[in-house]
Amino acid sequence: MFRVLIAEPNGRLRQNLERLVIDQGFRAVQARNADEALAEVGSNSPDLVLVSVALPPDGGLKFLTLVKESDPRLPVIVTAAQGATNETIEAIKRGAFDYVTLPYEPVDMASLIRQALESGRLVRSPVQLDSKEEHEFMAGDALLGRSRPMQELYKAIGRVAATDSTVLIQGESGTGKELVARALFQHSTRADKPFVVVNCVAIPESLLESELFGYEKGAFTGANSRRIGKIEQADGGTIFLDEIGDMPLAIQAKMLRLLQERSVERIGGRTPLPVDVRILAATNRDLAQAVSQGRFREDLFYRLNVVPIHLPPLRERSEDVPVLADYFLARVTRELGVRNPGITPEAYELLTAHPWPGNVRELANAMEKCLIFGRGHPVGAEEVGSLALNQDSGPGGLNPELDEAIRAWARQGIASGRSKLLAEMLDRVEELIVSEALENTGGNRTRAARLLGISRPSLLTRIKKYGIG
Ligand SMILES: Nc1ncnc2c1ncn2[C@@H]1O[C@H](COP(=O)(O)OP(=O)(O)OP(=O)(O)O)[C@@H](O)[C@H]1O
Ligand SMILES: [Mg+2]
Repeated sequence: MFRVLIAEPNGRLRQNLERLVIDQGFRAVQARNADEALAEVGSNSPDLVLVSVALPPDGGLKFLTLVKESDPRLPVIVTAAQGATNETIEAIKRGAFDYVTLPYEPVDMASLIRQALESGRLVRSPVQLDSKEEHEFMAGDALLGRSRPMQELYKAIGRVAATDSTVLIQGESGTGKELVARALFQHSTRADKPFVVVNCVAIPESLLESELFGYEKGAFTGANSRRIGKIEQADGGTIFLDEIGDMPLAIQAKMLRLLQERSVERIGGRTPLPVDVRILAATNRDLAQAVSQGRFREDLFYRLNVVPIHLPPLRERSEDVPVLADYFLARVTRELGVRNPGITPEAYELLTAHPWPGNVRELANAMEKCLIFGRGHPVGAEEVGSLALNQDSGPGGLNPELDEAIRAWARQGIASGRSKLLAEMLDRVEELIVSEALENTGGNRTRAARLLGISRPSLLTRIKKYGIG
């Protein structure tokens, strides 16, 4: 469970924050001054620190500096009674994850806490590349697989990590793009500098621009103080633009300027500010196709695609399936504190033959289900067949009425010369399935994404695309 340290001298504020943290399902630890807080950081390694600028004896910014010296990757959110622009800038410069002025909206604060924890997780837990050691004992995350494509990938990471080149990571959903981005960062010369992650889908379009570029006080109604954007925050370090294929065209134009001129302009700002950031980007869309459809700027595509890394779908490296299955089984048994029952040879065969449309993520989820439903027996062909792969409930051929309805619709469409038949149907199917999943989980997006075997951001894209609830 994540531990959040609340370093706040004011008892009432401290308790409010504590309640908010606990409500999010995290552990809260309190400190009233810098000594208590530093002791906590030193001995119990919290995952996030919330610190007041008024922290005695020398103030929150001094404390921030000390924390960043001892653990540069620990995310820190600074809170202050009223907004002082200079302090905001100073806090961000010293490496704060963000700066919040009181009073805060509980939902916004909660969301910020979650973002900071997620960002901390990305930066702090190491990604290891496949090595000879036992996979079962790997701490943190690991990129596994010895297939040809994975070996090529390790080489590519090795070649490019230590350079400042822009890298574009492409591949289907669940193939490991985020892991690769983290590995690139961790093996780079900027590994001890900021690593700022922006998910272009998870942030509403209207906020994405200010999130990335920041704004000046008075830039628009509601811009009551200056805000430093994520790009500036990443100065000296790395920014990871996840799901860049979904970036709106207007923001793509500003992004192009960043890549060409290595400077950012805050919204409402008059002068471009030079920044030194290394850019990593990822997408599960076919960007070249998006370019040809006019949804992605060609010039930006070329600027990003300096070093392309393509992650092949799991079905094209099925020899890696057994080692991955072992690894995920070991991981869930460890998490659940149960004995690892192992996998039978027949089950390995079925797993290897499966096409895994949801790629490695789907395999990981499948192993979890197999373990839970197998009740301590070795994972066998039966569990794999019925639980992991849903072979008896898939749409293919098992619902003749549905098949016939689709065929009839297609025949009609073809006869009447409709031009976008396939896209229309696929969109409709996607919309129906997504809304069913959301209904089933009472609107819980994380769980709905897991049910569907897609990532949360790609669920959000679809919710947005179809305007669902
Ligand atoms: N080669 C691998 N070895 C071990 N684990 C992997 C590997 N590839 C992916 N994973 C695991 O699979 C899951 C999905 O990976 P990740 O989130 O990096 O995918 P992604 O390509 O970013 O997907 P999306 O496009 O849906 O965001 C994660 O839990 C990750 O740890
Ligand atoms: Mg991803």
